[in-house]
Amino acid sequence: MRSLQGLKVIVSRACSTAQAVPVIAAKHPFKVALKAGKLYPWCSCGRSKKQPFCDGSHGKAAPGLAPVRFTLTEDKEAWLCGCKQTKTPPYCDGTHKQSYVQNCTLESDQVVS
Ligand code: FES
Repeated sequence: MRSLQGLKVIVSRACSTAQAVPVIAAKHPFKVALKAGKLYPWCSCGRSKKQPFCDGSHGKAAPGLAPVRFTLTEDKEAWLCGCKQTKTPPYCDGTHKQSYVQNCTLESDQVVS
């Protein structure tokens, strides 16, 4: 378990496999109001429909990845990463501003016919 500025990460990313590559869920972070003591599962695979939190999609779509489960010691508003490229999960570190994120096509933007 790691501790960073009142954040306790319970479970971090799992093993590395071909399916353990996160997809870019959004090109921006999500501002959320977090409650002290509550366990939050931050989506690390990018496939959840309940961004920025896990909905269990990694189980079939990215079994090599797991959500980052964390709690806080005090209530806090935070910007949680939506691009899944941050080096400081679950928080945004500005990586979403990189061109490879801003120029990508999101799965949610693709038209299915
Ligand atoms: S949204 Fe991922 S680093 Fe900012």
